[in-house]
Amino acid sequence: MGSAETKPIGADLIAELDRLAAEFGAEIGGLATEQDIRAAQARYLGKKGKLAEPMKMLGRLPAEARPAVGEAANRAKNAIESAVTARLAALDEAELAEDLGRVVDVTLPGRGRPLGTLHPLTLVRREIEQIFLGLGFEVRTGPWIETEWNNFDALNTPPDHPARDMQDTFFVEGGRILRSHTSPVQIRTMLAGPPPVRIIAPGNVFRRDDDATHTPMFPQMEGLLVDKQVSFAELKGTLLHFVHRFFGPGLGVRLRPSYFPFTEPSAEVDAACYLCDGGRKVTARTCRLCKGSGWIEIGGAGMVHPNVFRAVGYDPQAVSGFAFGVGLSRMAMLKYGVDDLRSFYEHDVRFLAQFR
Ligand code: PHE
Repeated sequence: MGSAETKPIGADLIAELDRLAAEFGAEIGGLATEQDIRAAQARYLGKKGKLAEPMKMLGRLPAEARPAVGEAANRAKNAIESAVTARLAALDEAELAEDLGRVVDVTLPGRGRPLGTLHPLTLVRREIEQIFLGLGFEVRTGPWIETEWNNFDALNTPPDHPARDMQDTFFVEGGRILRSHTSPVQIRTMLAGPPPVRIIAPGNVFRRDDDATHTPMFPQMEGLLVDKQVSFAELKGTLLHFVHRFFGPGLGVRLRPSYFPFTEPSAEVDAACYLCDGGRKVTARTCRLCKGSGWIEIGGAGMVHPNVFRAVGYDPQAVSGFAFGVGLSRMAMLKYGVDDLRSFYEHDVRFLAQFR
């Protein structure tokens, strides 16, 4: 107390308080974050802050000196607090102005993600399914791993039959094979129930082929119709309807006498080559797709062999039927004008993205 009396009472403290307020005002202008501003505020107004000492001295002043100094103390506190509020508001304002200043064109279209597409072979399968559903056929599927009996024996192809060589396939453990065609679905369907039968059976098949025009796996689609007095004319009519619905009415189709153990009589089904149109567009001899024949084989067909009916317990005297099998990749090649079969299996998006 004694030392306080030696100083010029009051005036000194008032000057000091005003000086601190001014000092704070100068300091805060350079602070750019709320955190820094709050720290500065605490350095002045906190318990051990710069104003704490003059405030302590205020209590020791003689009563008559206190009002003026008290007023200066409030003034300093208020000045510091309103400087804090003002500075924080200014910062908010600046932030908002910066946000608004960014050019945002709300009319720009969004950045789209590229959508996947259905594989062309899937598109072809679905379209063919629709055509046959319209004719009253049902869609059936069978397993890729088959018994030899379903794949060969029941289809009138006993173990020593030379036709097995045409469909050399892969044997897997347990005496089963990867099916070499979709024809075993004929057997499965007929074993599962009595006639009449009207099915198509799309799915992958496997053969020991691997070159530019043959892949060891390829999609096929089987067709089977069994009823009373089914004729070859109905087979031909069904195939023509199918091909013309699928490719358009103009495409040439021909049936060529052929041989399959499970059909009699049998035929190969050819469609006109899209690239040379049967030799009309480019000299037939130069066409790389049909190799000059003007035709592309799309599958086989025929009337169901009586031995096939016997194998599944159908009476060949009571029922007859036709069957066919088409290569879906061949159909897709013709439909989309793809001249390399491998394109379907390489999964290059530049190729696949064209089938939207
Ligand atoms: N399964 C035969 C093949 O893959 C095609 C076919 C099916 C032929 C039905 C006649 C009847 O070569």
